[in-house]
Amino acid sequence: MEQRIDKFLKLREEQGLLRRLRTVVPTGDGKILVDGKEYINFSSNDYLGLASNKDLAAASFKALSPVVGSSSSRLMTGTTSYHDELEDKVADFKKKPAALVFNSGYQANVGIISAILGKDDCVFSDRLNHASIVDGIRLSGAKMFRFGHNDTDHLGELLKAERKKYKASLIITETVFSMDGDIAPLEEIVRLKTDHNCIMMVDEAHATGVFGRNGGGLAGEKGLEKDIDIVMGTFSKALGGFGAYAAMSFELKQYMVNACRSFIYSTSLPPVIIAADIAALEIVKREGKRRTELLTNAGYLRRKLQEKGFEVRGESQIVPIIVRDNEKAIKMSEFLKEHGFWVTPVRTPTVPRGEARLRISLTFDHTKEMLDTFIEAITKFE
Ligand SMILES: Cc1ncc(COP(=O)(O)O)c(C=O)c1O
Repeated sequence: MEQRIDKFLKLREEQGLLRRLRTVVPTGDGKILVDGKEYINFSSNDYLGLASNKDLAAASFKALSPVVGSSSSRLMTGTTSYHDELEDKVADFKKKPAALVFNSGYQANVGIISAILGKDDCVFSDRLNHASIVDGIRLSGAKMFRFGHNDTDHLGELLKAERKKYKASLIITETVFSMDGDIAPLEEIVRLKTDHNCIMMVDEAHATGVFGRNGGGLAGEKGLEKDIDIVMGTFSKALGGFGAYAAMSFELKQYMVNACRSFIYSTSLPPVIIAADIAALEIVKREGKRRTELLTNAGYLRRKLQEKGFEVRGESQIVPIIVRDNEKAIKMSEFLKEHGFWVTPVRTPTVPRGEARLRISLTFDHTKEMLDTFIEAITKFE
């Protein structure tokens, strides 16, 4: 055991891939303090700047009494009126009959996928889907087919060749991809799902709050709520809170309550968190200017970086600058730190080899002036 751990750590160190935790003090204005120094934080998923919003804090404070912890799992005594209210509001927000709250996006993906699939089934999963999706598939025992990123021709070929060999079949994709910031071709995937009689699930972790009328996500923006069986997302990113949800039919919800192990065997989120999530949903619906300004700023940054010759991807608030080489990504990140910007380099195994990048995630707190200063700084890197 000790030998194995030692070998693993040494290898990671040699490859320059050993990750370390950094202690950060959030200041709530799109910035952080690290070792006492202030940085503009381009590595946060607080897309709408709601993590520091006073309404969320007030709602949490009100829900703080008489208990802080929920002290029980959902099927015991851990379902409070706060949980019911949030689930009703999410179902309405996502235009689905019902919704279920999960303790985190990771738990939602792992639990849902492994609850609906077994060893006689198969999954068609985008090559860049999040680790929690991959882990859910592995746990289910279903056969996994990975299709090229956003490549519906490849998905179609795989479906034609493999679908009929299995009982149930799931197609799963993120709607806004976490590391590339691009958008899945949902209409085409829905067509394939229908043609090949599959279940379809989407992960709206990075789209919720940012895309769609009222911020309801991309499935809603494209009017596909009815065609997509399970629409999953998180409260921990644009909504500034914590936890996750999955919107679905009443029957599927009832099934999850009885079969989804990550839902059943874990203490429920406390009211203090759920109350903040409820408050965040209301702000997202009310304050559309947060998402429109965010996306306008992201478009501006992407355009300016492209003009300066950088390879930039995506069409959302996530702006990845592809540098390819791990070492270069680290050096650029260090250089930007010297100029007051915190941009975590993203390397293998989070992204494929040769695809190292700086992942800029913009938030509503980032001003155009901050972006201009950033562009000026990064163009000085040699
Ligand atoms: C696409 C995607 N799905 C799921 C998750 C997991 O969500 P959570 O952080 O709530 O566990 C993440 C978070 O990083 C994500 O990016």
